Amino acid sequence: MDDKFYITTAIDYINAKPHIGHAYEKVAADVLARFYAEKIGKDKVRFLTGTDEHGAKISKAAEAAGEPIEDFARETAAKFSFAWDQLNINPDRFIRTTDPDHVQVVEELLLKIKDNGYVYEGEYEGYYCTACETFYTETDVPDHVCPIHKTPLELLKEKNWFLKISEFTDTIRTKIESDELKIWPIERKNEILSLLKQGFNDIAISRPNVKWGIPLPWDTEQTVYVWVDALINYISGGKTESRDWWPADLHIVGKDISKFHCIIWPAILLAAGLELPKSVVVHGYLTVGGEKMSKTVGNVIDPNDWVAKYGADAVRYLLMREVAFGQDGDVSEEKLKTRYEGDLANGLGNLVSRVTTLVEKFLDGKIQFADKAPYDLSEVDRLLEKYSFHQALQEIWNAVKNANESVDYNKLWELGKSDLEKFTIISGELLAAIKDIAEKLSPFMPEASKKILTVVNAEKITKAEPLFPRIGEVKS
Ligand code: MSP
Repeated sequence: MDDKFYITTAIDYINAKPHIGHAYEKVAADVLARFYAEKIGKDKVRFLTGTDEHGAKISKAAEAAGEPIEDFARETAAKFSFAWDQLNINPDRFIRTTDPDHVQVVEELLLKIKDNGYVYEGEYEGYYCTACETFYTETDVPDHVCPIHKTPLELLKEKNWFLKISEFTDTIRTKIESDELKIWPIERKNEILSLLKQGFNDIAISRPNVKWGIPLPWDTEQTVYVWVDALINYISGGKTESRDWWPADLHIVGKDISKFHCIIWPAILLAAGLELPKSVVVHGYLTVGGEKMSKTVGNVIDPNDWVAKYGADAVRYLLMREVAFGQDGDVSEEKLKTRYEGDLANGLGNLVSRVTTLVEKFLDGKIQFADKAPYDLSEVDRLLEKYSFHQALQEIWNAVKNANESVDYNKLWELGKSDLEKFTIISGELLAAIKDIAEKLSPFMPEASKKILTVVNAEKITKAEPLFPRIGEVKS
C-alpha cells in the first residue's frame, strides 16, 4: 500500500429509504476505513459514500410520492446519511450526485472523453430496466424480463451518444489478469474476464428522454446516462482542497453491479486518460429466508429499527459476523438477538463485567497488566486485509471464550480470597487480554471498544457498566 487509502462504496439510489442490504457494504467500508486510519493515520484515509440521485427511477419515485423532485431527493438522501450516522458509519464525505461540484466534474470529464475521440452518436435499439437503470440486449435477456428485478423490460429505440468501450476491452482484460486492477473474490474476477472475452458492446452514455439528469455538455437535449454520472462520483468525491485522492484503493460494491465497476468504469477512465482504481471488492447479498433483500421483493429491514433496539455496535457485529464477505447470507432479527445475548452480553459483556468487578473488589481497582496479552490476536489484521471480517471476529471471540474459561477455571472470585498473589497475576493477564480484544474490536464496534478501553486504561479500575444491557433497556 502506498501513502494513502481511499475507499468508496456504491452510492445508493434514493427511490426509497435505506435497508440493511445498503447498510452492509457501508459498515464493511467503515470498518476498513477505521482499521487503516489506526494503521497509517486518519489523515491518510479517505472514505466516500453517498447517494445516486438522477435518472428515470428517481423521477418516477418522486412523482409517485407527489413531491417536487429536488425536495424528494433531499429528504431521501437525508434518510441515508441519518441511518449511517446512527450506525456510526463516518464517511469523510457523503456525496450526492446533485452536488454542484460533482455536476461540474461530470461535465468536464465527458468533454475530455469526447475531445479524446471516444464518443460517437448512434441509435440504440434494445431493452432497458429502469429499476436497475441498465441496458440489456436480446442475447442477455431472451425472455425480455429483468434478470435482477424479474420485471418486464422496456423496449427502447432512441438516439444516444455512445462510448467506444470496444477500444479498451483488451487493455482492461490485461490489467485484470495481471492484478493491476484487482478483483476480489476470484469467482468475480473470472466472471468479469469471461464477459470481456465474449466481447462487450459499446454503451450509451446519454439518454434523450430523461429530463432529471445532468445535461450533456455538447448536446443539451440529452442527459448523462445515470450510471456514467454515478460512477464519476468516485472522482469528484476524491477532490479536496489539500489533495486529489484518486485513484481509489478500494471500491466496495455488490455483485449485481460488478460489471459496471470492473468493465464500464475502467473504460470511462481510460477514455478520459485517468488511472484505474487499485481494486474492486465485490460482496454478496444479504437475504431474508434465502431471498435477496430488496424493495421490489418487499422484505426489507430498516437499519434504524435494529439500531434503536440493539444499538449500533450489535448491528455492525451481526453484519460482519454472520455472513462471509463475498458470499450471500441470511440475516434476521432472531439471529441478531441470538448473537446479542450470546456473543455480546454473555460473552464479551460478561467477561469485562466479571473481571473489572473482581479487580475492584480484591485489588481496590489497582491495575497490573501482564506484560504480554495471553492470546495472540495478530491474525486479526491479516484477516481484515483479506476482507475476511467474519473470521477476524471469530479470532477475537476465541480470545473472549478463552478468557471467560480462565475466569471459571481459576475460580477467580475465590482466588481473590485464597491467593491474592495468583489473583493479581491472572487478573493482570485477563486485563491485558481484554485491552487487546478492545483494541482489535475498535473498527468493528467503536462504542463498546471505547467504553472498555476507558475502564481498563483508567488509573483505578471500577466495575464497568453493562456493555450490552438486556434488550429493551438498550439505549437508542
Ligand atoms: N446506484 C447504484 C450504484 C451506483 S455506484 C456508482 C445502485 N444502487 S442500489 O441502491 O441499488 O444499491 C447500492 C448498493 O447496495 C449496491 O452495491 C448493491 O449491491 C447493494 N445492495 C442492495 N441490496 C443488497 C442486499 N440485499 N444485500 C447486499 N447488498 C445489497 O446499484
